Amino acid sequence: MNESSIACVVLAAGKGTRMMSAQPKVLHGLAGRAMITHVLDTVATLEPNRVVVVVGPDMENVARVVAPLAVAIQSRRLGTGDAVRAASDFLTDFTGEVMVLYGDTPLVTPATLQRMIEARRAASDPAVVVLGFRPANPGAYGRLITNADGSLEKIVEHLDATTKERTVTLCNAGLMAFDGRRLFELLDHITCQNAKGEYYLTDAVGLARARNWTCAMVEVDDATEVLGINCRAELAEAEAIIQHRLRLRAMAGGATLSDPATTYFSMDTVLGRDVLVWQHVVFGPGVTIADRVEIKPFCHLERVTVAEAATIGPYARLRPGATIGPGAHIGNFVEIKNTDIAAGAKVNHLTYIGDASIGAKANIGAGTITCNYDGFAKHKTIIGAGAFIGSNTSLVAPVRIGDGAIVGAGSVVTMDVEADALTVARGRQQNLAGWAERFRAIRKKYGAGEQGSCAASSALSATATPPRD
Ligand code: UD1
Ligand code: MG
Repeated sequence: MNESSIACVVLAAGKGTRMMSAQPKVLHGLAGRAMITHVLDTVATLEPNRVVVVVGPDMENVARVVAPLAVAIQSRRLGTGDAVRAASDFLTDFTGEVMVLYGDTPLVTPATLQRMIEARRAASDPAVVVLGFRPANPGAYGRLITNADGSLEKIVEHLDATTKERTVTLCNAGLMAFDGRRLFELLDHITCQNAKGEYYLTDAVGLARARNWTCAMVEVDDATEVLGINCRAELAEAEAIIQHRLRLRAMAGGATLSDPATTYFSMDTVLGRDVLVWQHVVFGPGVTIADRVEIKPFCHLERVTVAEAATIGPYARLRPGATIGPGAHIGNFVEIKNTDIAAGAKVNHLTYIGDASIGAKANIGAGTITCNYDGFAKHKTIIGAGAFIGSNTSLVAPVRIGDGAIVGAGSVVTMDVEADALTVARGRQQNLAGWAERFRAIRKKYGAGEQGSCAASSALSATATPPRD
């Protein structure tokens, strides 16, 4: 183990009762990813040698989400000091930095963690580095009591603080960096003699000072980074902060957002250069958009890839497994799922395409539906390059339309169509000369009542009847 190694302990054993939820707090989503995954992604930027997540009993679902990372189970929720002790098996013989983070504080940035590590490695060799911040309302936060030289003397929890200590505005954000060689000496001496009867991790500072070890504080520049999430309103607040960050990231990467406040991203959204995103567009997880794509207003995309210079929307819904080729056009009220749309194909109006493959430059007419589901299984529709599907066509899968074939409008296609053929699969049209005129004359004669209707239809059938298929 060398001096520069890092271990991270992420505390997540809290139940999060104020979320009023059946699922653990840290699994609630932010920008398409569980809250705890945000913390772990940030932790990963430190390239730590060990990471362990402390969970409560019955939190297997958290263990599943964080896998393959290790979890330690804190059997009783006895406080933050006890929670770190629960991870001790994963930290034996560890002599590098031990970072403690909270699973419910997901907005902290890699730069802040880096500053804490650097402070821990400074010449003063602090045993503990604490992240401080100045909230608008210090409320129930622990207060950081500092010395004249800015070093840290102790942390006092709000409930245990004197009136004078409560006037301190510098608060404990909760994140700490320890010298791994001294961590257990401190943990072993934490007691629960305090207002809450809990083992406070924060007592580590006073214990270190009693041993004449230095403690340091790093103050976060932007207090929103250390927003802790305890309820749904704070979840929404955190979501807004993340969305703001993601909008700035997209624009810095060369995308135009015509009204950034109405573009919603997931953490993993990838946008190319000169992508133009109009108002009210939602990027669910797993979306990759290539250069020069235009996404018109009111579109929803999730687990899709869009190739360069394609145009999407307005009002398009691209669902998981849609792959849109270069220069393809997907228009209004079009839903596409699990389908490859090749280069230059057009699906412009009022259409559902699912479990299909659409060849290059094919044209799919308004109102086309792939009937992909028979109530039991999903089936494929294959449409060849340059094929033309007339409006209001139902393609009953499995079915294959050859390259260059034309399907007449209004068809219900149940059989394969060979390349360059025309298929028309609908009732044949018949025109009956003068029928309408005769109908009106008879209606006039017999009236519109039930009896009249009866007489009128027998009179009509005596002359000519409209075709019935
Ligand atoms: C803690 C700090 C306080 C700081 C505040 C910042 C202590 C004693 N106090 O108080 O100084 O200002 O955070 O938000 O540390 N957890 C466990 N097991 C436990 C207890 C907590 O895993 O037994 C986890 C929680 O899930 C949470 C984190 O530790 O992620 C903090 O716990 P919480 O109860 O919110 O601590 P606070 O009282 O807010
Ligand atoms: Mg808290």
